[in-house]
Amino acid sequence: MKQIRTLCLAAGLLLAVSCRGPKTDSTIGASSDTERRVESLLSRMTLAEKIGQMNQVSAGGDVSNYADALRKGQIGSILNEVDPAKINEYQRICLEESRLGIPLLVARDVIHGFHTVFPIPLGLAATFDPDLVEEGARTAALEATAQGVRWTFSPMLDIARDPRWGRIAEGSGEDTYLDARMAEAMVYGYQGRQADSTSMAACIKHFVGYGAAEGGRDYNSTFLTERQLRNVYLPPFEAAVKAGALTLMTSFNDNDGVPSTGNTFVVKDVLRGEWGFDGLVVTDWNSMGEMIAHGFGTDRKDVARKALEAGVDMDMMTYGFLSHLEELVKTGAVKESAIDDAVRNILRVKVLLGLFEHPYVDVEKGVAVQYAPEHLAAAQRSAEESVILLKNDGVLPLKAATVRSILVTGPMADAPHDQLGTWAFDGDKGHTVTPLKALRERFPGKVTFVPGLRYSREKRNAFQDVVAAARRADVVLVFLGEEAILSGEAHSLADLNLKGSQSELLAALKATGKPVVATVMAGRPLTVERDLPNCNALLYAFHPGTMGGPALANLLFGDVNPSGKTPVTFLRTVGQAPLYYSHNMTGRPYNGETLIDDIGMEAGQTSLGNTSYYLDYGAYPLFPFGYGLSYTQFAYSGIVLDKAVYGKDDEIKVSLTLSNTGNCDGTEVVQVYVRDLVGSVTRPVKELKSFERVSLKAGESRDLEIRIPVSELAFYGLDGVKKVEPGDFQLWVAGDSASGDPVPFTVQ
Ligand code: BGC
Repeated sequence: MKQIRTLCLAAGLLLAVSCRGPKTDSTIGASSDTERRVESLLSRMTLAEKIGQMNQVSAGGDVSNYADALRKGQIGSILNEVDPAKINEYQRICLEESRLGIPLLVARDVIHGFHTVFPIPLGLAATFDPDLVEEGARTAALEATAQGVRWTFSPMLDIARDPRWGRIAEGSGEDTYLDARMAEAMVYGYQGRQADSTSMAACIKHFVGYGAAEGGRDYNSTFLTERQLRNVYLPPFEAAVKAGALTLMTSFNDNDGVPSTGNTFVVKDVLRGEWGFDGLVVTDWNSMGEMIAHGFGTDRKDVARKALEAGVDMDMMTYGFLSHLEELVKTGAVKESAIDDAVRNILRVKVLLGLFEHPYVDVEKGVAVQYAPEHLAAAQRSAEESVILLKNDGVLPLKAATVRSILVTGPMADAPHDQLGTWAFDGDKGHTVTPLKALRERFPGKVTFVPGLRYSREKRNAFQDVVAAARRADVVLVFLGEEAILSGEAHSLADLNLKGSQSELLAALKATGKPVVATVMAGRPLTVERDLPNCNALLYAFHPGTMGGPALANLLFGDVNPSGKTPVTFLRTVGQAPLYYSHNMTGRPYNGETLIDDIGMEAGQTSLGNTSYYLDYGAYPLFPFGYGLSYTQFAYSGIVLDKAVYGKDDEIKVSLTLSNTGNCDGTEVVQVYVRDLVGSVTRPVKELKSFERVSLKAGESRDLEIRIPVSELAFYGLDGVKKVEPGDFQLWVAGDSASGDPVPFTVQ
């Protein structure tokens, strides 16, 4: 597998911050010994045994259901079995009772933790902390592999620019660069820096473009041009491949008419050909069979052939390969060499994971690893860093010493299942610490709980009970949002306001005159504009996982200073979607022109500015990408570049001073954006090129140096070739994508 090196340096007070790439290289990668073992096995396999390796099925019930098929070598992988005793038995049948003794690859959607649940991936992206994200993925791998799961269908690398799409929860948001950094971190975390029995193969998905579903409706068609694919959607996958990702999943969508599972261009030409990927390509669940529904194939035999020709190695749940490949080979419709290639890719992963040497797990030890204190601590740190402070009139942080009575209310205050978020199959809600539980433990006798609404969609006309309790309290902590079921796969929404009577509950609380601190837990950026005036402070927690409660208590009471930043643009209203910071410049850019409410009835046709905006909502978001407040303030000064003119092989060195000008310690996510002013095709108004978390004591200043290789400015232009186009650029260093002043530079 290809590798990538970091360029980070640190020197005394001058902190040289990053660029890109993980700290050290992964050592999981094919060697000549691996290839010898793969070839030796392959040479002994019958055609039927080869095809069996290409078949993945979902576990169901008793081991005996699949025992016969395993003995005959008809299954290469099972998903959705997490019982270590059953997994051991599956492996025993494969090793001892099948002809060649090839172990099974046991897979599961371990998406943001296994038993110990971390924040949803969108929340993890809000940390802008790849090291912490890697630690989270490693923790998930330790827990999952201890029970026999050696393959996870994660990370999801789909760029998502439409919050209606429920699966926005599962990825890193809207930005290509941030997504790529998170991709590397998760691959390193799951697979480990060294291959051993705790390595869990990562599966980068969904290849490709799935997040661009028209209208944000899951499974819908996409219409991405090759240039958009190459400049925006493919780079995170390429970064993950370079980081050593062992497997990849094709997506459900058709792009410009071609379903991904039959898309030779993206799988064979780009992934295999251009990037040299020699890992395993699996379909999504029945995505081979769904090519029939798409109208891309006549029957299962036809789509099995098309998937194989496109470069797919393993069929998840269509049984298309198992049922038809033998016949297709015999009639000459497909070549056996294509099957050999697929089987090589599968066996290679099994060898690299050490499955032949360590097929079994120790059931008792496996149980002991789950919810280990250090895992819970990592989950709590991740939750703390994932929370974004969106509003604060000074009410936060609360002072623990002076608080006498706290009202806790809202449908997410004590929702142990729902705060885990989507894809938390294995997280036991009995281990979840909710905000209510954490606050009660911390302030015995001082917390009153009145739910107000039992679930997010409940409607109520009046809130006498909550309002009466609020009047008796010093402070009101209200936990709003959406349950896990409202985001994730197949759970898209057309309305992104807080559901049910949540906004009314908030307004009723505010009307008491008591300080109201709102926390939103959700799988997506909801449209909370109408709620902002009704709270003194707003924390956005996404779904924070098992340890969300203590994390939020620490943030509310100032033990931890918020540092999360929006990984996706927050809209004012759903009709603005898709709205993202890295858009191309129109010929008539919006400049804050008049809105329809500001003009009289008599306004003429051209009096509204004739720029690109909505008459009722303008074209600005509620909160831009990269945004998040702190309990302290940061000042950026002395931003200078080492040169005015760079060559294509140079490195841009940006120097600046970051100062913590407030009264408490804090962490800022320093972000660098670049704009290429003129290109052979129009270029985004800004693109993130580097970021770094910097922690400063109250009053502390630090000189930073950020390095960006000029090669990072390359893109696919009019001729379809990736290169840096010479010309003028602008660069910003700021705490979000909408701040800072541009610094000009030129590339020759
Ligand atoms: C999802 C995948 C998931 C697979 C296996 C599909 O429905 O799209 O992301 O990995 O199921 O559970």
